[in-house]
Amino acid sequence: QNSEQGQLIKLYDQAAKLYTHVLLNTEMGQQALDYLHGRGLTDEIITKFQLGFAPGEQLLKEFFDEKKLDYQLLRQSGLFIEDQQGNLRDRFRGRVMYAIKNPQGHVIAFSGRILNKADSQAKYINSPETKIFSKGDVLYNFDIARSAIRKEKRAILFEGFMDVIAAYQSGVVNGIASMGTSFTNDQIYLLQRTTTQLDICYDGDDPGQAAINRALEAFGQNSRLKLSVIEIPDKLDPDEYVRQHGFEQFKEIVQSARLTPTAFKLVYLKRDFNLNNEADQVTYIERALNEISHLGSTVEQDLYLNQLSKDFGVQTQDLAQQLRQIRSQQS
Ligand code: CTP
Ligand code: MN
Ligand code: MN
Ligand code: MN
Ligand code: MN
Repeated sequence: QNSEQGQLIKLYDQAAKLYTHVLLNTEMGQQALDYLHGRGLTDEIITKFQLGFAPGEQLLKEFFDEKKLDYQLLRQSGLFIEDQQGNLRDRFRGRVMYAIKNPQGHVIAFSGRILNKADSQAKYINSPETKIFSKGDVLYNFDIARSAIRKEKRAILFEGFMDVIAAYQSGVVNGIASMGTSFTNDQIYLLQRTTTQLDICYDGDDPGQAAINRALEAFGQNSRLKLSVIEIPDKLDPDEYVRQHGFEQFKEIVQSARLTPTAFKLVYLKRDFNLNNEADQVTYIERALNEISHLGSTVEQDLYLNQLSKDFGVQTQDLAQQLRQIRSQQS
């Protein structure tokens, strides 16, 4: 392929191979390799996901210079930073490299993780947008996960690369991630063509929970996907959970700890209230009923009314009456 896209894809392929080689087979990569081994990754998994290491020097620049590659191509690749004189320097230095691939499995970008996080540096830096990479289109691991997603009719959405990889090691092979926490319509459409069910399994920490809430709003409006939420306990992220509790227990959670969007929201709402206090209880119940009022099915509504009734010792019929009031105000 001689198109510009084709040339860029070839370039990224060579870069990915170089970074993986450095990680697995060189002295320069040893510290990063120990780091990844320490996080539970084997060489086989590293190879499967094409992880790599970009050392502190101008390795990629020198590698491509030897091949006498076109300056304009290198300039447009996003793999380098250009100084005022037009000199190119490696963009990724001293970082563990995650290869980002298109659905066909071609590397189109990288995300680089700092080895030892110091406060001043971003934990991850990503390739800039190029002719072959637009961040909002990418679903990390979609190339590998697609057939499993089709077969299981279900995809699991994670926050981070490491979460996808840890899930894969656990035998949960239908995992994908967006790059960062926001999810775009393009990503939704890509998924909708492949499956009808999406489980959101973000980090258990506060930012992760807030991101679930945002994702439910966005998906609810823009997609036909049936959604559920998988909650990771103890504010852990999925990768941390796997490392602490093992593959089997993680698989167990994925299979059994699924919440409907409404069940998630009723729990999430509680964060804003001190439920030992009666005024807060009343307001919480109002907000919860408002959430329940959006449900299409009366069976589902009943389910949550009963739950509220049990939680707060309030008669179901009183809750139902207030729900009717809310609904009449809405129409
Ligand atoms: N992210 C990013 N830039 C950052 C921080 C995060 O692009 N400065 C993206 C990355 O894709 C990352 C995801 O958001 O994988 C989730 O962020 P976070 O939970 O902070 O990272 P982890 O995936 O848990 O990374 P690690 O386990 O390596 O610390
Ligand atoms: Mn080691
Ligand atoms: Mn996070
Ligand atoms: Mn995380
Ligand atoms: Mn993590």
